[in-house]
Amino acid sequence: MSQPTVSPAAEATHRTPDEAGMKCGRTSCYPCVVMIETALGRVEEGSASWGEIRHGDAFDLINMMPDESVDLVLTSPPYWGQRCYGQELSEHVLKRWEETGCPASRVPPYGWYHEAGGVLGLEPYPSWYVDHLVEFFNRARRILKPSSSLWLNLGDTYFARWGSIRDHGRQGYRDERQRRRTPSGGYLQDKQLLLIPARFAIAMQEAGWILRNDLIWAKPQVMPRPESDRLRLSHEHWLHFVPRQPRGRARYYYDINACEEGTRDVVICPTAPGSDGHTATFPPELIRPRIMSACPPGGLLLDPFCGTGRAIVAAIQLGRRGVGFEVSDVHAATAQRNLAAALFEAGVPLCLELQA
Ligand SMILES: C[S@@+](CC[C@H](N)C(=O)[O-])C[C@H]1O[C@@H](n2cnc3c(N)ncnc32)[C@H](O)[C@@H]1O
Repeated sequence: MSQPTVSPAAEATHRTPDEAGMKCGRTSCYPCVVMIETALGRVEEGSASWGEIRHGDAFDLINMMPDESVDLVLTSPPYWGQRCYGQELSEHVLKRWEETGCPASRVPPYGWYHEAGGVLGLEPYPSWYVDHLVEFFNRARRILKPSSSLWLNLGDTYFARWGSIRDHGRQGYRDERQRRRTPSGGYLQDKQLLLIPARFAIAMQEAGWILRNDLIWAKPQVMPRPESDRLRLSHEHWLHFVPRQPRGRARYYYDINACEEGTRDVVICPTAPGSDGHTATFPPELIRPRIMSACPPGGLLLDPFCGTGRAIVAAIQLGRRGVGFEVSDVHAATAQRNLAAALFEAGVPLCLELQA
Protein backbone atom coordinates (compact mmCIF):
# COMPACT_ATOMS: atom_id res chain seq x y z
CA MET A 1 0.00 0.00 0.00
CA SER A 2 1.30 3.44 -0.82
CA GLN A 3 2.27 5.60 2.06
CA PRO A 4 2.99 9.28 2.30
CA THR A 5 6.53 10.09 1.19
CA VAL A 6 8.67 12.93 2.40
CA SER A 7 9.91 15.62 0.09
CA PRO A 8 13.50 16.87 0.65
CA ALA A 9 12.18 20.21 1.86
CA ALA A 10 10.03 18.53 4.42
CA GLU A 11 12.77 16.18 5.54
CA ALA A 12 14.68 19.16 6.85
CA THR A 13 11.99 19.75 9.45
CA HIS A 14 11.40 16.12 10.29
CA ARG A 15 11.44 15.54 14.06
CA THR A 16 10.88 12.63 16.32
CA PRO A 17 7.37 12.43 17.81
CA ASP A 18 8.71 13.37 21.23
CA GLU A 19 10.51 16.40 19.93
CA ALA A 20 7.47 17.40 17.97
CA GLY A 21 5.16 16.84 20.93
CA MET A 22 7.38 18.97 23.14
CA LYS A 23 7.40 21.69 20.57
CA CYS A 24 3.61 21.63 20.31
CA GLY A 25 3.33 21.72 24.08
CA ARG A 26 -0.34 20.90 23.83
CA THR A 27 -2.17 18.01 25.33
CA SER A 28 -5.71 18.70 24.28
CA CYS A 29 -5.06 18.79 20.57
CA TYR A 30 -2.32 17.30 18.43
CA PRO A 31 -2.71 18.63 14.95
CA CYS A 32 -0.17 17.41 12.44
CA VAL A 33 -0.78 19.58 9.44
CA VAL A 34 1.21 18.47 6.45
CA MET A 35 2.13 18.78 3.20
CA ILE A 36 3.03 18.45 0.16
CA GLU A 37 4.04 15.54 -2.09
CA THR A 38 2.59 12.19 -1.20
CA ALA A 39 2.43 8.94 -3.10
CA LEU A 40 -1.29 9.61 -3.28
CA GLY A 41 -1.02 13.04 -4.82
CA ARG A 42 -0.63 16.55 -3.64
CA VAL A 43 -2.24 17.64 -0.41
CA GLU A 44 -2.58 21.38 -0.19
CA GLU A 45 -0.62 22.72 2.75
CA GLY A 46 -2.98 23.80 5.51
CA SER A 47 -6.06 22.47 3.77
CA ALA A 48 -6.09 19.16 5.56
CA SER A 49 -4.20 17.41 8.28
CA TRP A 50 -3.08 13.82 7.95
CA GLY A 51 -3.97 13.04 11.51
CA GLU A 52 -5.39 14.66 14.58
CA ILE A 53 -6.74 13.66 17.97
CA ARG A 54 -9.14 16.03 19.70
CA HIS A 55 -9.81 15.68 23.40
CA GLY A 56 -13.42 16.26 24.45
CA ASP A 57 -16.99 15.11 24.10
CA ALA A 58 -17.77 13.83 20.61
CA PHE A 59 -21.20 15.50 20.75
CA ASP A 60 -19.48 18.91 20.98
CA LEU A 61 -16.51 18.23 18.73
CA ILE A 62 -18.64 16.98 15.84
CA ASN A 63 -20.12 20.48 15.54
CA MET A 64 -16.66 21.89 14.80
CA MET A 65 -16.02 19.76 11.72
CA PRO A 66 -16.52 21.32 8.28
CA ASP A 67 -19.52 20.34 6.12
CA GLU A 68 -19.10 17.33 3.83
CA SER A 69 -15.50 16.72 4.83
CA VAL A 70 -15.53 13.09 5.98
CA ASP A 71 -15.40 9.98 3.77
CA LEU A 72 -15.79 7.33 6.44
CA VAL A 73 -16.89 7.26 10.07
CA LEU A 74 -15.55 4.07 11.62
CA THR A 75 -16.09 3.72 15.32
CA SER A 76 -17.10 1.75 18.37
CA PRO A 77 -18.99 3.79 20.95
CA PRO A 78 -19.16 2.68 24.59
CA TYR A 79 -21.55 -0.30 24.79
CA TRP A 80 -24.65 0.02 26.96
CA GLY A 81 -24.29 -0.66 30.67
CA GLN A 82 -20.69 -1.81 30.81
CA ARG A 83 -17.96 0.75 31.46
CA CYS A 84 -17.57 4.32 32.58
CA TYR A 85 -14.14 4.94 30.99
CA GLY A 86 -13.10 6.99 33.99
CA GLN A 87 -16.07 9.40 33.81
CA GLU A 88 -18.17 10.41 36.81
CA LEU A 89 -21.78 9.26 36.64
CA SER A 90 -24.55 10.89 38.66
CA GLU A 91 -27.03 8.39 40.09
CA HIS A 92 -29.79 10.99 40.05
CA VAL A 93 -30.22 11.68 36.35
CA LEU A 94 -33.47 9.73 35.98
CA LYS A 95 -34.94 11.32 39.11
CA ARG A 96 -33.99 14.78 37.87
CA TRP A 97 -35.60 14.07 34.49
CA GLU A 98 -38.83 12.95 36.13
CA GLU A 99 -38.76 16.04 38.34
CA THR A 100 -38.98 18.17 35.21
CA GLY A 101 -42.39 16.56 34.63
CA CYS A 102 -41.20 14.33 31.77
CA PRO A 103 -41.91 10.59 31.84
CA ALA A 104 -39.00 8.15 31.63
CA SER A 105 -40.43 6.92 28.32
CA ARG A 106 -39.53 10.28 26.80
CA VAL A 107 -35.79 10.42 26.14
CA PRO A 108 -33.92 13.59 27.18
CA PRO A 109 -31.66 15.06 24.51
CA TYR A 110 -28.00 14.20 25.09
CA GLY A 111 -27.17 17.82 26.03
CA TRP A 112 -29.62 17.81 28.95
CA TYR A 113 -28.59 14.28 29.99
CA HIS A 114 -24.88 15.11 30.01
CA GLU A 115 -25.41 18.39 31.89
CA ALA A 116 -27.35 16.43 34.52
CA GLY A 117 -24.36 14.12 35.09
CA GLY A 118 -25.19 11.36 32.60
CA VAL A 119 -22.50 9.39 30.76
CA LEU A 120 -22.87 7.95 27.26
CA GLY A 121 -23.35 4.17 27.56
CA LEU A 122 -24.63 4.35 31.14
CA GLU A 123 -28.13 5.62 30.40
CA PRO A 124 -30.75 4.12 32.74
CA TYR A 125 -32.62 2.59 29.79
CA PRO A 126 -31.37 1.04 26.52
CA SER A 127 -33.89 3.27 24.67
CA TRP A 128 -32.14 6.39 26.00
CA TYR A 129 -28.78 5.02 24.85
CA VAL A 130 -30.06 4.13 21.37
CA ASP A 131 -31.64 7.58 20.97
CA HIS A 132 -28.44 9.31 22.06
CA LEU A 133 -26.39 7.38 19.53
CA VAL A 134 -28.90 8.14 16.77
CA GLU A 135 -28.86 11.82 17.84
CA PHE A 136 -25.07 11.78 17.47
CA PHE A 137 -25.06 10.21 14.00
CA ASN A 138 -27.78 12.57 12.83
CA ARG A 139 -25.52 15.44 13.89
CA ALA A 140 -22.72 13.75 11.97
CA ARG A 141 -24.66 13.74 8.69
CA ARG A 142 -23.76 17.37 8.00
CA ILE A 143 -20.04 16.59 7.90
CA LEU A 144 -20.37 13.50 5.71
CA LYS A 145 -19.73 13.54 1.99
CA PRO A 146 -22.64 12.17 -0.09
CA SER A 147 -20.34 9.24 -1.05
CA SER A 148 -19.53 8.42 2.59
CA SER A 149 -20.10 5.41 4.82
CA LEU A 150 -20.51 4.71 8.53
CA TRP A 151 -19.11 1.47 9.98
CA LEU A 152 -20.06 1.01 13.60
CA ASN A 153 -19.05 -1.80 15.96
CA LEU A 154 -21.53 -2.68 18.73
CA GLY A 155 -21.72 -5.53 21.19
CA ASP A 156 -24.81 -6.68 23.08
CA THR A 157 -25.61 -6.73 26.81
CA TYR A 158 -27.67 -8.99 29.08
CA PHE A 159 -30.06 -7.11 31.33
CA ALA A 160 -29.49 -7.32 35.08
CA ARG A 161 -31.41 -5.34 37.68
CA TRP A 162 -28.10 -5.03 39.49
CA GLY A 163 -25.70 -4.27 36.67
CA SER A 164 -21.91 -4.30 36.95
CA ILE A 165 -20.14 -1.21 35.71
CA ARG A 166 -16.42 -1.33 35.28
CA ASP A 167 -14.06 1.52 34.97
CA HIS A 168 -11.92 0.01 32.24
CA GLY A 169 -11.68 -3.79 32.26
CA ARG A 170 -13.77 -6.34 30.35
CA GLN A 171 -17.08 -7.16 31.98
CA GLY A 172 -16.56 -9.80 34.60
CA TYR A 173 -12.80 -9.66 34.70
CA ARG A 174 -9.93 -7.98 36.46
CA ASP A 175 -11.23 -4.50 37.05
CA GLU A 176 -12.92 -3.12 40.13
CA ARG A 177 -16.64 -3.10 39.55
CA GLN A 178 -19.44 -0.93 40.80
CA ARG A 179 -23.02 -2.11 41.10
CA ARG A 180 -25.89 -0.02 39.84
CA ARG A 181 -29.58 -0.68 40.07
CA THR A 182 -31.12 -0.52 36.61
CA PRO A 183 -34.85 0.17 36.26
CA SER A 184 -36.72 -2.95 35.12
CA GLY A 185 -40.15 -3.68 33.67
CA GLY A 186 -41.55 -4.61 30.26
CA TYR A 187 -38.85 -6.44 28.30
CA LEU A 188 -36.19 -5.25 30.78
CA GLN A 189 -36.03 -8.45 32.78
CA ASP A 190 -33.13 -10.29 34.38
CA LYS A 191 -31.29 -12.63 32.00
CA GLN A 192 -32.72 -10.91 28.91
CA LEU A 193 -30.38 -10.47 25.93
CA LEU A 194 -31.26 -6.93 24.95
CA LEU A 195 -30.54 -7.00 21.19
CA ILE A 196 -29.04 -3.52 21.41
CA PRO A 197 -27.35 -3.68 17.98
CA ALA A 198 -30.69 -4.59 16.37
CA ARG A 199 -32.56 -1.84 18.26
CA PHE A 200 -29.94 0.68 17.17
CA ALA A 201 -29.98 -0.51 13.54
CA ILE A 202 -33.78 -0.18 13.33
CA ALA A 203 -33.71 3.29 14.93
CA MET A 204 -31.07 4.38 12.39
CA GLN A 205 -33.17 3.06 9.49
CA GLU A 206 -36.10 5.06 10.80
CA ALA A 207 -33.87 8.14 11.04
CA GLY A 208 -33.02 7.97 7.34
CA TRP A 209 -29.98 5.73 7.10
CA ILE A 210 -29.60 2.78 4.74
CA LEU A 211 -28.22 -0.36 6.36
CA ARG A 212 -25.95 -2.17 3.88
CA ASN A 213 -24.46 -4.94 6.03
CA ASP A 214 -24.65 -6.46 9.47
CA LEU A 215 -21.22 -8.03 9.61
CA ILE A 216 -20.71 -10.58 12.37
CA TRP A 217 -17.31 -10.44 14.04
CA ALA A 218 -16.85 -13.97 15.39
CA LYS A 219 -14.23 -14.21 18.13
CA PRO A 220 -12.45 -17.57 18.19
CA GLN A 221 -11.37 -17.21 21.82
CA VAL A 222 -13.63 -15.78 24.50
CA MET A 223 -13.12 -15.84 28.24
CA PRO A 224 -14.98 -18.48 30.27
CA ARG A 225 -18.19 -17.27 31.95
CA PRO A 226 -19.76 -18.45 35.19
CA GLU A 227 -23.29 -18.90 33.72
CA SER A 228 -24.30 -22.50 33.07
CA ASP A 229 -27.72 -21.76 31.54
CA ARG A 230 -26.67 -20.05 28.31
CA LEU A 231 -23.95 -20.03 25.65
CA ARG A 232 -21.12 -17.54 25.79
CA LEU A 233 -21.42 -14.39 23.70
CA SER A 234 -18.65 -14.74 21.14
CA HIS A 235 -19.59 -12.27 18.46
CA GLU A 236 -20.16 -8.56 17.96
CA HIS A 237 -21.83 -6.63 15.16
CA TRP A 238 -20.33 -4.29 12.62
CA LEU A 239 -23.11 -2.27 11.00
CA HIS A 240 -22.48 -0.57 7.68
CA PHE A 241 -24.75 2.40 7.00
CA VAL A 242 -24.85 4.96 4.23
CA PRO A 243 -26.85 8.18 4.33
CA ARG A 244 -30.13 8.16 2.40
CA GLN A 245 -29.97 10.54 -0.56
CA PRO A 246 -32.60 13.26 -1.03
CA ARG A 247 -33.66 11.41 -4.18
CA GLY A 248 -32.60 8.24 -5.91
CA ARG A 249 -30.65 5.28 -4.58
CA ALA A 250 -27.70 5.63 -2.23
CA ARG A 251 -24.41 5.90 -4.10
CA TYR A 252 -21.23 5.64 -2.10
CA TYR A 253 -17.57 4.78 -2.46
CA TYR A 254 -16.96 1.04 -2.17
CA ASP A 255 -14.09 -1.16 -3.34
CA ILE A 256 -15.18 -4.74 -2.77
CA ASN A 257 -11.80 -6.06 -3.88
CA ALA A 258 -10.31 -4.61 -0.70
CA CYS A 259 -12.54 -6.80 1.52
CA GLU A 260 -11.65 -10.20 2.91
CA GLU A 261 -11.37 -13.10 0.46
CA GLY A 262 -14.80 -14.56 -0.17
CA THR A 263 -16.53 -11.22 0.70
CA ARG A 264 -18.74 -12.86 3.34
CA ASP A 265 -20.51 -11.06 6.17
CA VAL A 266 -19.01 -13.23 8.91
CA VAL A 267 -15.39 -12.53 9.78
CA ILE A 268 -13.49 -14.65 12.27
CA CYS A 269 -10.88 -12.55 14.02
CA PRO A 270 -9.21 -12.80 17.44
CA THR A 271 -9.70 -9.87 19.80
CA ALA A 272 -6.74 -7.53 19.97
CA PRO A 273 -4.90 -7.45 23.27
CA GLY A 274 -5.75 -4.17 24.97
CA SER A 275 -2.98 -1.65 24.86
CA ASP A 276 -2.11 1.24 27.13
CA GLY A 277 -4.76 0.45 29.72
CA HIS A 278 -7.61 0.21 27.18
CA THR A 279 -9.28 -3.17 26.85
CA ALA A 280 -11.68 -2.54 23.98
CA THR A 281 -9.26 -1.90 21.15
CA PHE A 282 -9.92 -2.72 17.50
CA PRO A 283 -8.03 -5.64 15.96
CA PRO A 284 -6.18 -3.99 13.04
CA GLU A 285 -6.93 -6.96 10.70
CA LEU A 286 -10.64 -6.34 11.14
CA ILE A 287 -10.67 -2.62 10.45
CA ARG A 288 -8.17 -2.52 7.60
CA PRO A 289 -10.54 -4.10 5.02
CA ARG A 290 -13.34 -1.76 6.21
CA ILE A 291 -11.10 1.28 5.72
CA MET A 292 -9.69 0.20 2.36
CA SER A 293 -13.11 -0.67 0.95
CA ALA A 294 -15.09 2.32 2.25
CA CYS A 295 -12.60 5.23 2.33
CA PRO A 296 -10.83 6.28 -0.87
CA PRO A 297 -7.03 6.72 -0.80
CA GLY A 298 -6.24 10.13 0.70
CA GLY A 299 -9.81 10.33 2.10
CA LEU A 300 -10.67 11.34 5.66
CA LEU A 301 -11.69 8.85 8.35
CA LEU A 302 -13.32 10.04 11.57
CA ASP A 303 -13.45 7.91 14.72
CA PRO A 304 -15.51 9.95 17.21
CA PHE A 305 -14.94 7.47 20.08
CA CYS A 306 -11.34 6.69 19.22
CA GLY A 307 -9.93 5.23 22.46
CA THR A 308 -6.25 4.56 21.81
CA GLY A 309 -6.60 5.65 18.20
CA ARG A 310 -6.29 2.30 16.43
CA ALA A 311 -8.56 3.37 13.56
CA ILE A 312 -6.63 6.61 13.06
CA VAL A 313 -3.31 4.76 13.04
CA ALA A 314 -4.65 2.21 10.53
CA ALA A 315 -5.94 5.04 8.33
CA ILE A 316 -2.50 6.67 8.24
CA GLN A 317 -0.80 3.35 7.52
CA LEU A 318 -3.18 2.82 4.61
CA GLY A 319 -2.60 6.24 3.08
CA ARG A 320 -5.81 7.81 4.38
CA ARG A 321 -6.18 10.74 6.80
CA GLY A 322 -7.70 10.42 10.24
CA VAL A 323 -9.37 12.50 12.97
CA GLY A 324 -10.21 11.02 16.36
CA PHE A 325 -12.29 12.34 19.27
CA GLU A 326 -11.80 10.99 22.78
CA VAL A 327 -13.32 12.13 26.08
CA SER A 328 -10.82 10.46 28.42
CA ASP A 329 -7.65 12.49 28.87
CA VAL A 330 -5.63 9.33 29.46
CA HIS A 331 -6.82 7.62 26.27
CA ALA A 332 -6.60 10.84 24.26
CA ALA A 333 -2.96 11.22 25.28
CA THR A 334 -2.28 7.59 24.30
CA ALA A 335 -4.00 8.09 20.96
CA GLN A 336 -1.91 11.19 20.36
CA ARG A 337 1.28 9.23 21.02
CA ASN A 338 0.16 6.37 18.78
CA LEU A 339 -0.75 8.79 16.03
CA ALA A 340 2.58 10.60 16.29
CA ALA A 341 4.43 7.27 16.03
CA ALA A 342 2.34 6.22 12.99
CA LEU A 343 2.99 9.52 11.24
CA PHE A 344 6.67 9.23 12.02
CA GLU A 345 6.83 5.68 10.65
CA ALA A 346 4.91 6.73 7.55
CA GLY A 347 7.49 9.46 6.98
CA VAL A 348 5.12 12.33 7.56
CA PRO A 349 6.81 15.30 9.15
CA LEU A 350 5.16 16.52 12.30
CA CYS A 351 4.01 19.94 13.31
CA LEU A 352 5.06 21.90 10.25
CA GLU A 353 2.25 24.20 11.17
CA LEU A 354 -0.01 24.40 14.17
CA GLN A 355 -3.70 24.86 13.77
CA ALA A 356 -5.34 27.69 15.67
C1 LIG B 1 -15.24 1.05 22.82
S1 LIG B 1 -14.07 2.26 23.21
C2 LIG B 1 -13.26 2.53 21.65
C3 LIG B 1 -11.91 1.85 21.53
C4 LIG B 1 -11.21 2.13 20.21
N1 LIG B 1 -11.96 1.58 19.12
C5 LIG B 1 -9.77 1.55 20.19
O1 LIG B 1 -9.44 0.76 19.30
O2 LIG B 1 -8.96 1.92 21.09
C6 LIG B 1 -15.04 3.71 23.36
C7 LIG B 1 -14.26 4.96 23.68
O3 LIG B 1 -15.16 6.07 23.63
C8 LIG B 1 -14.74 7.01 24.61
N2 LIG B 1 -15.91 7.87 24.89
C9 LIG B 1 -16.97 7.61 25.70
N3 LIG B 1 -17.85 8.63 25.68
C10 LIG B 1 -17.35 9.56 24.83
C11 LIG B 1 -17.81 10.84 24.38
N4 LIG B 1 -18.98 11.34 24.80
N5 LIG B 1 -17.04 11.52 23.49
C12 LIG B 1 -15.85 11.02 23.06
N6 LIG B 1 -15.36 9.82 23.48
C13 LIG B 1 -16.11 9.08 24.33
C14 LIG B 1 -14.30 6.15 25.77
O4 LIG B 1 -13.43 6.84 26.67
C15 LIG B 1 -13.62 4.98 25.06
O5 LIG B 1 -12.22 5.18 24.94
